[in-house]
Amino acid sequence: MVNNTYPSLADRVVLITGGASGIGAALVRGFATQGAKVGFIDLDDAAAEALVADLFHVKHSPLYRHCDLTDTAALRATIDEFRARLGAIGVLVNNAANDVRHGFADVSPERFDQLVAVNLRHQFFATQAVAGDMRGLGGGAVICLGSVGWMQKNAGYPVYATAKAAIHGLVGGLARELGASAIRINALVPGWVMTEKQKTLWLDAEGEATIDRMQCLRARLQPDDIARAALFLASDDAAMITGQSLIVDAGWV
Ligand SMILES: NC(=O)c1ccc[n+]([C@@H]2O[C@H](COP(=O)([O-])OP(=O)(O)OC[C@H]3O[C@@H](n4cnc5c(N)ncnc54)[C@H](O)[C@@H]3O)[C@@H](O)[C@H]2O)c1
Repeated sequence: MVNNTYPSLADRVVLITGGASGIGAALVRGFATQGAKVGFIDLDDAAAEALVADLFHVKHSPLYRHCDLTDTAALRATIDEFRARLGAIGVLVNNAANDVRHGFADVSPERFDQLVAVNLRHQFFATQAVAGDMRGLGGGAVICLGSVGWMQKNAGYPVYATAKAAIHGLVGGLARELGASAIRINALVPGWVMTEKQKTLWLDAEGEATIDRMQCLRARLQPDDIARAALFLASDDAAMITGQSLIVDAGWV
């Protein structure tokens, strides 16, 4: 549930990667409910179509396209299609990722590259693909989803952790260049968010106890908590915020 209204987001073209489920679905709902023209990419057609159907009441029905964003040529072509259908892209939310577990000793160079492709590379190339739109619009906002996982020194996904740490380098490395065109780029860094996937795959009694011990706030983080922060960062209310990291983790780190 998003309470605030951001008039600057109405009719803005917003591209969200990995928007069919989890935090991405909350982002699609949040931006669409603000009256934005949302385009989103995913692999999960059934979840995407159900989400679009559920948003029958919004001003602009979200536009879904199936695309494997580890295929950079396909990603570029899909972004071209969104531009042709929706107009110049003013907001990009680089959300898609995969926190699949992998053992340090077992990672081959090929597996390393796959994990970087799904957790980092598309954030760079999607940003590159929309920068011209944002320049033409006189500005824009890019939001890159990071993770507190590597700050917590969690084991079990070292390449995911490496990729997510690099999001901060991506943001810092582009903020000055993009800032010259009034394009803002920020990292949005979630704590442990209770998506259906997290609850099904990873959350157990030990996890609940760890959350109780480590978070300053006792409530569980929900996808909407991240969406609310994304709406603010994307809106003109955040006009002078760039090159920053906003951590939404209930005070864990
Ligand atoms: N959920 C958490 O606790 C948590 C914690 C820290 C950071 N994050 C970050 O927040 C973001 C969203 O997390 P989430 O938990 O909702 O993720 P998720 O894994 O539940 O959902 C990611 C979405 O991306 C899609 N996707 C995956 N690979 C794709 C590909 N190759 N091409 C196109 N789409 C693809 C999936 O189908 C899915 O809809 C991610 O960047 C994640 O790293 C999440």
